[in-house]
Amino acid sequence: MATRTKNQVKTRHTLPQKTRTQMTDLLNTTLASVFDLQSQTKQAHWNVKGDDFYQLHKLFDELAEIVEDYVDTVAERITALGGLACGTVRMAASGSMLAEYPTEVLDSMKHVELLADRYAAFGTHARESIDTADKAGDQATADVYTEITRGIDKALYFLEAHLQA
Ligand SMILES: [Fe+2]
Repeated sequence: MATRTKNQVKTRHTLPQKTRTQMTDLLNTTLASVFDLQSQTKQAHWNVKGDDFYQLHKLFDELAEIVEDYVDTVAERITALGGLACGTVRMAASGSMLAEYPTEVLDSMKHVELLADRYAAFGTHARESIDTADKAGDQATADVYTEITRGIDKALYFLEAHLQA
């Protein structure tokens, strides 16, 4: 049976276990939130109505695909550190930092606003986590967060471009 300490398996990875445990906890918060963000973006993709319906329907789907890649990147960074990835839908629901998506029928620009709020919140978390990982001495995790921050910033720009004219 694998040796576990808290959320870690025994590994030859030479980062200190304390650092790997700290990063695993941080990355699991990110995993829950990014999985939630992916499903909320799909929720908007399916339910959007009104002006610019078709282009927003497609844009939201493209954003969901980008975010879906991050779900896998984050989960596999956890396991690369010897950690246990907490990646079910229920785990995401209980661990996400994002507000739930409203269920009323909403027009297209309201969906853009709701998504922009969530991309901005998640982007802030990712950007702050670059420094957290760097200070902990885990530059590879900092690099994962840098990549995610760049992608989420671009997604936010694509969303807000509908709101800024
Ligand atoms: Fe679809």
